[in-house]
Order: sequence, then C-alpha cells, then structure tokens
Amino acid sequence: MASRLLLVLTLWVGCSPCSGREAAPTQPRVRCRASRYPIAVDCSWTLLPTAHSAKPTSFIASYRLGVAAHGESRPCLQLTPEATSCTIPDVQLFSMVPYILNVTAVQPWGSSSSFVPFVPEHIIKPDPPEGVRLSPLPGQRLWVQWEPPRSWPFPEIFSLKYWIRYKHHGSARFRQVGPIEATSFTLRAVRPQARYCIQVAAQDLTDYGEASDWSLPAAASKPMGK
Ligand SMILES: *[C@@H]1O[C@H](CO)[C@@H](O)[C@H](O)[C@H]1NC(C)=O
Repeated sequence: MASRLLLVLTLWVGCSPCSGREAAPTQPRVRCRASRYPIAVDCSWTLLPTAHSAKPTSFIASYRLGVAAHGESRPCLQLTPEATSCTIPDVQLFSMVPYILNVTAVQPWGSSSSFVPFVPEHIIKPDPPEGVRLSPLPGQRLWVQWEPPRSWPFPEIFSLKYWIRYKHHGSARFRQVGPIEATSFTLRAVRPQARYCIQVAAQDLTDYGEASDWSLPAAASKPMGK
C-alpha cells in the first residue's frame, strides 16, 4: 500500500507537462513542517531559477486527504497568489492516510505542479526553546532554565522533551544530556570561573517528527561559587 502510494506519487512528480518552446516553470521544491502542531501545517517552496524564470509566477496550492482523486480538495491558505508559502489550517490528527499537497507554479506560458505527501505527526519539528538562561548555584553548579517555544500551542497537552548541550569556553566538544521533560536542569561540577555555552533543543515527547534546532546559547560568564 505504502509503496504503491510512493510509486503513484513518483509518477506524478516525474510527469511534468510536455512544454513547447517556452519552458514551463520548474517544479516547486516544497517543504512542509508542523512547528505549531496540531493547529496547522506550514508549507513553503522555491522555484529553481531557469533561463525563463521571468515573473510573474503565481502559485495555486491545494491539498486533500488521501490520494483518491475524488477526495475533496481544499485551498492551502496563501496571503497572496505570489506568496511562496501556505498554511493548512485544520489538521486531522493521526490520520490513516497522508495529506497530499499540490503546489502549482503558474506562468503565462505554462504551469508545473509538485505533489507532496505527508502525515502531520511525521513532520513535527518544534521551534527551538526560548529564554534559555543560567543562574549560578552554590557548590559549583549551574541552573539552566528555559521555556517551550511560543509557537508550540499546547505544551500541556502535547508535551515536549528537551536536550541540553553544553561546553565550556575553549572546549571543542559539546556534552549532551537528555531527554528530560522538565524545563530546567542543574549542571553539576562546573569549572569555577569558566564560561559556558549552553543550548537546548525540543522534541515532541512521543518521538514524532524531529527535534528542533538548537536554541540560542545562554552563555554564563559569572564566576561560580567561591
Ligand atoms: C493540482 O493543482 C492544479 C492547479 O489547481 C490543477 O490544475 C491540477 O489538476 C491539480 N492536480 C491534481 C492531481 O489534483
């Protein structure tokens, strides 16, 4: 079933319109991500520049649930027809069939479509945690605190887990701890006087999708202990 689906999609994608003298636009390279699961899926795309990549190019983005041709097609919301991103505003959780997004680049002399299948849970990638900060604690310890990304709408329901990586200034390698579910962590036995670079990444607690990028570093410059 899954491999047949892939085959169908490959055929679709491989079958660009046979164009005449004027080259039709290249197929949009589309990427979808659920960084604010389960509220929406956000997709964006680029067109490879070609000799004929003159403007105007507009895009029609639509999606349906499943590959069945009779499935209802809905618009993926764009701010303008020229926008290179769109949003699928209501996500069906744990769907048994994938969503199929159809992004069609339209130019006066031709059009070209890309089809992207995805399951929302599989493309979860939270934004990085925010507000990563350090406080020195007695006994050569450092307290790291952070907040879930503000874009993650329901951290109480769809929990995140976190990784922390840290190194002291001058060290080449990070050490990594996690995953943990708390939004703070105590580093022990830190070097007195050393500066630390500490970053945090978030991932869906149930392991769907991938981890976020690393947060901005919270660098500690305070001397620790006495
Ligand atoms: C993809 O979208 C374009 C533009 O709306 C449409 O012409 C085309 O038929 C769609 N393709 C499929 C397979 O739904």
